Amino acid sequence: MSKKLVAYFSASGITKAVAERLAKAADADLFEIKPTVPYTSADLDWTNKKSRSSVEMSDQNSRPEIAEQLSNMEDYDTVFIGFPIWWYVAPTIINTFLESYNLSGKTIIPFATSGGSSMGKTVEVLKSLCPTANWKKGKMLNRVSDAELKKWVDDIL
Ligand SMILES: Cc1cc2nc3c(=O)[nH]c(=O)nc-3n(C[C@H](O)[C@H](O)[C@H](O)COP(=O)(O)O)c2cc1C
Repeated sequence: MSKKLVAYFSASGITKAVAERLAKAADADLFEIKPTVPYTSADLDWTNKKSRSSVEMSDQNSRPEIAEQLSNMEDYDTVFIGFPIWWYVAPTIINTFLESYNLSGKTIIPFATSGGSSMGKTVEVLKSLCPTANWKKGKMLNRVSDAELKKWVDDIL
């Protein structure tokens, strides 16, 4: 049987809550992508050009360090990857995550939460970092009901 993983980064808990529901709906394991240095609320201040998130998101080469590695990525053939939208794309810690494992041939399904933005070019950017994976269309999961979540999971798996 194919094994599934929901890996997510969440700075303020919104993506975390939906990731937990998704893991249940998809019968998947759950892994939190935790930064070695947690983001403070000052770090997340998008109105300040000098805040940590602004500096990271304006540098395509930024790769914030992840605190813990997953030891058994080879066990999974489907990996949901969740994150908040930052500046219309995925936070650069997601780039760190994608570059930390051999995801070649695995099915990758992105999902995100936001204050209203859609996925935009997010998946294209992520795909370019990991072109040998089998990327599915990304899905915004803002205020998704359990029934909608279940239907999406059933359709995509
Ligand atoms: C640095 C930063 C940049 C953001 N950029 C966007 C954006 O471009 N579009 C948007 O709709 N929301 C944006 N948001 C809002 C988050 O995407 C939204 O609050 C998300 O649900 C937070 O998820 P989390 O609690 O899992 O971190 C941004 C938030 C932060 C902290």
